[in-house]
Amino acid sequence: MAFVNENYLKLRESYLFSDIKKKVNAYKAQHPEANIISLGIGDVTRPIVPAIIEAMHKAVDEMGHAETFRGYGPEQGYRFLQDRIIEHDFRSRGVELDADEIFVGDGAKSDLGNIGDILSVKNKIAVTDPVYPVYVDTNVMGGRAGELAGDGEHWNRIVYIPCTSENNFVPELPAERPDVIYLCYPNNPTGTALTKEELQKWVDYARANDALILFDAAYEAFIHDDNIPHSIYEMEGAKEVAIEFRSFSKTAGFTGLRCGYTVVPKVLKVHTETGEKVALNPLWNRRQTTKFNGTSYIVQRAAEAAYSPLGTQQTRESIEYYMRNARLLKESLQNIGLKIFGGDNAPYIWVKTPDGLSSWKFFERLLHECHIVGTPGVGFGPSGEGYFRLTAFGRYEDTVEAISRIQNWKL
Ligand code: MLT
Repeated sequence: MAFVNENYLKLRESYLFSDIKKKVNAYKAQHPEANIISLGIGDVTRPIVPAIIEAMHKAVDEMGHAETFRGYGPEQGYRFLQDRIIEHDFRSRGVELDADEIFVGDGAKSDLGNIGDILSVKNKIAVTDPVYPVYVDTNVMGGRAGELAGDGEHWNRIVYIPCTSENNFVPELPAERPDVIYLCYPNNPTGTALTKEELQKWVDYARANDALILFDAAYEAFIHDDNIPHSIYEMEGAKEVAIEFRSFSKTAGFTGLRCGYTVVPKVLKVHTETGEKVALNPLWNRRQTTKFNGTSYIVQRAAEAAYSPLGTQQTRESIEYYMRNARLLKESLQNIGLKIFGGDNAPYIWVKTPDGLSSWKFFERLLHECHIVGTPGVGFGPSGEGYFRLTAFGRYEDTVEAISRIQNWKL
């Protein structure tokens, strides 16, 4: 007899963004004339920049010649890309890493989901709340979340750290000690950021409590303020307690191309049940070499080109394009009296729903009355109730049109 992983049966029927897509498609089917603007899922709209396209063309041509053809590459990524990553993303910020601490993959989402393979099912997980749903859902799949509580919102083995306007979206250290802590900064979904001092507190806490931090830095390219860390390794002692996840999706428009990387420092160790210390770097390497055949050569050449002087300049322009949307959304919606958070160092705007409307009610009304799709805050966790996320990744013209619809909306 074959048995199912029953943890999957505990999950909500569909992933948040699949659920939203279904609702939007149902509405479209009934209202085919509606000109719907999507500011929902954080998917980019700017095309891949010319410097990267050129690098890919070159790589494609190389694949067609016997002398330059590539078969399986190193599962950890090509050295040419690892070296660029170290130089541009870390050394430039005073962080030294070795190439074998960088694992190139097909995006942060996969690695964030897969990292659970090398962590015990017994770990107590903590998440900031609201949170990118992948962290919670993959821990449900892995059997670490326990059971869904009676409120239908909280998993009873997960520690939730609320981040709301009451604490200015700065997570407080948890009262109950977790083993593994997910942090995403700049934050998805609230669009807020942590200062160096605030992040250092978490590193100190992890060191003092033998906890592991899984740090998702997918949005670091959107940071504008100097006192916001781009990498957790800018914090003292972080290499001993943190794994960092990076993505080219938002930074260089790779949501369709797929490339990211994970940093597992060699000094980072966790415990066996008998109290021995074990390094995670070789275990992640073992996991990747067994289950993953590497990111495509063409895509890694594309990622490499994002670091060239021209690639950097061109991708920077795309980032500034999105941040102009973010500023515009923030200022215009504030001007009509909505309470808005985030959007300064991240491409997300976190809106307090007016008149105590629930997140889903606001979603429905915005879709039905303005033909705009956003993401209900509660979809990211219980503390997201009463909030709503808008992305700055839309086209500029669509963002302007969406703002004008909201300004003329009789809420
Ligand atoms: C989001 O909308 O939260 C992101 O697109 C999710 C992701 O990057 O997978």
